[in-house]
Amino acid sequence: MKINDLETPCILLDKDVVIKNINRVQKIANKQNLNLKPHIKTHKSPFLFNWQQQAGAIGITASKVDEAIPFIKTGVTSVTLAYPIVDQRKLDRLLRHINQSDQQVSLTICVDSILGLEVVTAAAMKANYPIFINLIIDVGYERCGLDPKDPLILEIAQKTQASKYLQLSGLLTHNGLTYGAKSKKHIGKLNTSEIKQLLKVKKLLEEINIPIADISIGSTPGVLSGAQTLTGATELRPGNYIFMDRTPFELGLINKNQIAISVLSQIISENNHYYIIDAGKKILSSDRRKNVEDYGLVYPYNKFGKRKKELRLVKMSEEHGFVKKEKNIVYKIGDKLRIIPNHSCVVANLASAYCLLEGDTLLRTIPIAASKTSHGINQF
Ligand SMILES: Cc1ncc(COP(=O)(O)O)c(C=O)c1O
Repeated sequence: MKINDLETPCILLDKDVVIKNINRVQKIANKQNLNLKPHIKTHKSPFLFNWQQQAGAIGITASKVDEAIPFIKTGVTSVTLAYPIVDQRKLDRLLRHINQSDQQVSLTICVDSILGLEVVTAAAMKANYPIFINLIIDVGYERCGLDPKDPLILEIAQKTQASKYLQLSGLLTHNGLTYGAKSKKHIGKLNTSEIKQLLKVKKLLEEINIPIADISIGSTPGVLSGAQTLTGATELRPGNYIFMDRTPFELGLINKNQIAISVLSQIISENNHYYIIDAGKKILSSDRRKNVEDYGLVYPYNKFGKRKKELRLVKMSEEHGFVKKEKNIVYKIGDKLRIIPNHSCVVANLASAYCLLEGDTLLRTIPIAASKTSHGINQF
């Protein structure tokens, strides 16, 4: 089946580009001798993680417990949840799955509060399972994590050391400031500052005999900005790089042809101002990036054309997209269009399968086993 024969809307993945993106980042990690533990919130697919693993990835990073479970079921043996957990039931559920699986899973949980540590301690004790702890450090993004000077770092580190089931293994951060960077050089500076802050905390802890093995960082722009600015880290956790999207493109880190994901849609109606397509917020998400006034770039179904062939998806309702008409770019009702989404990770979470393409031919569909896992589907 060819692209134009597919029923819409659907999520297209270009196999060749996916493989190139996987290899590109693995090469960056290898060059600096860093472990790569991709964040699977981007693709949510054990099938695709298998490709990352074959290239050299050592395990997965996930956010939510239920996102990680399908990967554990397919044999993944190293899991980091880079997201604080302060409700023990969630960890109990994860540990039940781990205990039911055939293999030993090396589990790392991230902590930035006493409550978080108490929850992990209680869950580890209940399941009689060893857990590695990564302390989350806030390097300026102000989302999760402790300020590098916060005395709680020491308190949590000492309490972790005192626990029979826990082992403090690393310091972890996610520097979301890279998404707002002005240039590749700016991202490099953010990387350097981020790693410096983590190494300072490591030094303070090691001075009082608390060893820190891992310095874990990871955002796709940070990693793409180049291996030399990652010195001092031991682990990378980018996620978005496997597909890419508008963000690294607008940051000038990639070109359009390095974006592996797109949404195929069909024009279902039109008026003076807009082509109306069958893809809205329920497939593309309403995510907008800084400085980007629209929800996606729109091209003919068969290629990402040049700027002058580009339309913009300027409005969306749930099931409809409004593609703004431009002179000299003419389509008709029934035509198929291909959209580069602003944020690929959210698109994957909304869908249940990818259409994997080789050139313009459908190879197969790939289930998104962990899609829609952001709301505790397995709790009942
Ligand atoms: C804790 C953590 N690690 C890694 C990542 C991966 O970053 P990116 O989406 O830029 O690849 C994220 C993304 O939000 C994250 O929150």
